[in-house]
Amino acid sequence: MRFFLLAALCLQHLPAVFAGVLLPRQNGTATWMDTSLSAQQRADALLPHLTWDEKVAQMGGIRQLLSANSTFNQTLYDSLYPLQHGILSYGSQLNQAQTVLPYANMVREQQRNNSLVPWITVTDSVNSIYLPGGTMFPATLSLSTSWNLTLYEQVVAAIRDENVALGTHWVLSPELEVSKDPRYGRVGEQYGEDVYLIGEFAAQYVKTMQERDEDGYMKVATTVKHFLYGQGSGGVNTASMDGGVNHLYNDLALPFIRVFKEDPASIMISYASIDRIPMSMNKAMIQGMLRNEMGFQGLVMSDAVAINHLYTQSLVASSYKDAAIKAVKAGMQLELAPQQPACFPYLVNSSNDTSIVEMVDEAVRQLLIIKFETGMFDQPLPTLENLNATLRSAGHLDTNLQASRESIVLLQNNGILPRPKLGKVALLGPFADILDPGSYAPSTSANPENGRTLRGSLEAVLGSESVQYVQGVNIRTDSGNSIAGIQQAVAAAKEADVAIVSLGSLSVYFLDGNVAQRTDGEFFSHPDLGFPGQQQQLLDAVLDTGVPTVLVLNGGQAFVLNNSTMRANAILHTFLGGEFTADALVEILQGQVNPSGKLTVTMPQAEGAFPVYYDFLPSDAEGGYAATVAGVCTSDWSFPCLTRGGATMAFGFGLGYTTFDIASSKAVVAGGGNVTVSCTVTNTGSVTGKEVVQVYYRQQYSNLIELPNKRLVRFQKVELSPGQSQDVSFSIDRNELGYYVNAQYQVDSGNYTFWVGSSSRAQDLMNVTLTL
Ligand SMILES: *[C@@H]1O[C@H](CO)[C@@H](O)[C@H](O)[C@H]1NC(C)=O
Ligand SMILES: *[C@@H]1O[C@H](CO)[C@@H](O)[C@H](O)[C@H]1NC(C)=O
Ligand SMILES: *[C@@H]1O[C@H](CO)[C@@H](O)[C@H](O)[C@H]1NC(C)=O
Ligand SMILES: *[C@@H]1O[C@H](CO)[C@@H](O)[C@H](O)[C@H]1NC(C)=O
Ligand SMILES: *[C@@H]1O[C@H](CO)[C@@H](O)[C@H](O)[C@H]1NC(C)=O
Ligand SMILES: *[C@@H]1O[C@H](CO)[C@@H](O)[C@H](O)[C@H]1NC(C)=O
Ligand SMILES: *[C@@H]1O[C@H](CO)[C@@H](O)[C@H](O)[C@H]1NC(C)=O
Ligand SMILES: *[C@@H]1O[C@H](CO)[C@@H](O)[C@H](O)[C@H]1NC(C)=O
Ligand SMILES: *[C@@H]1O[C@H](CO)[C@@H](O)[C@H](O)[C@H]1NC(C)=O
Ligand SMILES: *[C@@H]1O[C@H](CO)[C@@H](O)[C@H](O)[C@H]1NC(C)=O
Ligand SMILES: *[C@@H]1O[C@H](CO)[C@@H](O)[C@H](O)[C@H]1NC(C)=O
Ligand SMILES: *[C@@H]1O[C@H](CO)[C@@H](O)[C@H](O)[C@H]1NC(C)=O
Repeated sequence: MRFFLLAALCLQHLPAVFAGVLLPRQNGTATWMDTSLSAQQRADALLPHLTWDEKVAQMGGIRQLLSANSTFNQTLYDSLYPLQHGILSYGSQLNQAQTVLPYANMVREQQRNNSLVPWITVTDSVNSIYLPGGTMFPATLSLSTSWNLTLYEQVVAAIRDENVALGTHWVLSPELEVSKDPRYGRVGEQYGEDVYLIGEFAAQYVKTMQERDEDGYMKVATTVKHFLYGQGSGGVNTASMDGGVNHLYNDLALPFIRVFKEDPASIMISYASIDRIPMSMNKAMIQGMLRNEMGFQGLVMSDAVAINHLYTQSLVASSYKDAAIKAVKAGMQLELAPQQPACFPYLVNSSNDTSIVEMVDEAVRQLLIIKFETGMFDQPLPTLENLNATLRSAGHLDTNLQASRESIVLLQNNGILPRPKLGKVALLGPFADILDPGSYAPSTSANPENGRTLRGSLEAVLGSESVQYVQGVNIRTDSGNSIAGIQQAVAAAKEADVAIVSLGSLSVYFLDGNVAQRTDGEFFSHPDLGFPGQQQQLLDAVLDTGVPTVLVLNGGQAFVLNNSTMRANAILHTFLGGEFTADALVEILQGQVNPSGKLTVTMPQAEGAFPVYYDFLPSDAEGGYAATVAGVCTSDWSFPCLTRGGATMAFGFGLGYTTFDIASSKAVVAGGGNVTVSCTVTNTGSVTGKEVVQVYYRQQYSNLIELPNKRLVRFQKVELSPGQSQDVSFSIDRNELGYYVNAQYQVDSGNYTFWVGSSSRAQDLMNVTLTL
């Protein structure tokens, strides 16, 4: 509500015309305004008409049109404008969409009146339009746990249409990081640990966002990112060392190679240094690997403040200007500069350096192509009427609820769930009455603009008299009375039929009221993979009472679930929630919805047991196989005795309220050299449910480089009623079974094993081997 009061005040300063009007572009006679030409032809026609300063200005932009409370600072705008007006972003993610649009339209219209090149609006768009007023979906990790690409397509289409209604035609998504390290704070923004799954989901994102409208314009350009992120492979004697070209091509680059088939408009370069060269000035990686070897043809942009980092953080440039020159010469074409100074404006005095001039011309040509492709020169400005009609439409809200229902993962259930009658509930823990939406969500955790907390959802269904809520402890800081809080929680549990304990790791925007409690999200890492603060003590005390307990996990990360935690009768992970996640959770607890989410990140077995992910290399398993002989730990890993790949809650794992049998699996080589893998899935339980059939493979012996012990190659989610069977068959092109050696792709003849089943765990898979 407070947004609307402020909106009313601010709007008084704006002429009514900015609330949305149809505006034809001024110069209809120029060649570049000829809509029968291609975007490339139009860009080539316009480029010679731009001055040097205009070109430099196109390579940056204004990232914060409005600061908090929708305030527009004309002085600031005017000071940045001359050398930074290629891209426009709205600024604070808590300003209401309806309030922001008139300001955005004001500067868009000014630009169309006064300049040859219009603005294009660029925004982060992880699970929404990035402004309140739109539909807030669960975050990317949660959507990946649905394993349902059709559903994901509907989600992305809704986010896309809400963006277009706001005049946003370029997003800084999707993220193609392979989330193999649970210590990374941005896992919640990503699609999990498997390269194939990431590739399929991200390809769906790009295809859906960049769909053409009826006039042939690309609806929303995408930015695949971040190219490329590095990671280590923790502490095992003979384990692989990552970082070389074979690692990049067979792991980190694979999702990019897949998604490039959908022609993403742009790519964002990562903050990482690879072999000690920061990516923002890594010519070999940008021009060699990305452009020449991988054939990427779109625009290359920096990450926020990343070019400054060359000077201020990595100390590989001696000034902002030096940083700008190194970046532009390496192939950087657009600077994201939410903070000032930006570096590219320093190029304004480099008009006589031909090596820079060539790079700048190409950069501006790339940007103009995106602006032509998305209709920025031709299409009318968005209107408030259409914005209102599009945001939070009934269809979008339906899709959102469905996405929440399919993405919650049931990790453990000793029969306590479902519970059609929950009875008297003790609702405990610091996540029971807040929303954990992710740091890129346009919402606050304590007062979500839309949607409910678990407390809100439970009270709506059961009545507030049946729900006794006790926070118990804080997430992070010790408020000093945690012993009293834990005692209060224990007392509530003892009086209840069931205790629901909601714990986890908080990821929110930096203007959130609970910002001091943050432990997850961008700029965070997790040196400890348990629950932050005193949440474990709270849980242990509740479990000690013996009251039936359901544990609900929150956060864009995997947790170590120790033996004490495993005493919980049921455990569910909601990751980063959308506005309906709590409603869907209550439906699942009561059995109105049968959970069908499956993990896309493995839950670690122990704090230091790296690597965690399922597709480790054979040599990473030293000491892992046959670790226990006759109950005695013989591993050369010390206590606890673990098996590499032995995580109970591994990639692909997730329970439901029914059981499935996956049988008669076979693999054959069909005509044309394709492999067909088939099986029959039967619902052997007593309620309708959904199973995700997963196919993994491995070449028995590879040449020259090590390959993962197994890797996902296909999946399909099926819904079956009790007793119902379905044959599921997958066709796999032989050419998909290869790998890269020194950037060259090869497919070997030989024996291949295919596994079919319900998770990546050995006990959930059957195998067949065939010769190709
Ligand atoms: C339109 O652009 C063309 C090509 O630059 C120019 O010759 C012409 O004067 C412009 N017309 C108007 C009305 O600005
Ligand atoms: C926004 O406005 C509210 C109410 O006037 C004020 O309390 C708050 O500090 C403002 N926030 C910022 C970041 O300026
Ligand atoms: C507006 O921006 C200018 C220039 O950055 C700054 O000096 C001034 O304090 C800002 N005004 C407000 C009200 O924030
Ligand atoms: C743009 O030009 C039109 C026509 O000259 C004028 O009515 C309008 O006020 C201008 N808009 C802005 C924001 O300058
Ligand atoms: C460009 O050169 C002019 C003249 O020497 C100088 O005043 C200006 O500060 C320089 N601009 C930048 C961004 O370096
Ligand atoms: C570029 O070179 C010309 C001719 O030598 C000179 O007049 C001009 O000042 C130079 N511009 C810059 C930005 O150095
Ligand atoms: C759009 O919605 C906002 C907020 O709900 C409302 O204040 C405004 O009047 C609506 N405008 C139009 C043109 O429908
Ligand atoms: C946890 O329990 C299992 C058996 O249930 C046992 O083998 C293991 O040693 C226990 N781990 C720890 C750290 O106590
Ligand atoms: C996947 O999502 C779509 C769209 O919501 C839905 O129609 C379909 O039933 C889902 N697939 C399964 C197997 O449930
Ligand atoms: C081989 O598999 C690919 C990918 O699944 C499929 O598109 C193609 O039609 C198949 N070819 C044959 C001959 O079955
Ligand atoms: C493939 O497996 C068959 C059957 O086990 C075996 O005879 C053959 O030698 C294997 N081929 C290779 C290349 O390993
Ligand atoms: C294949 O399955 C058989 C029977 O369960 C098992 O003995 C064998 O170890 C499996 N092979 C592989 C490579 O997983």
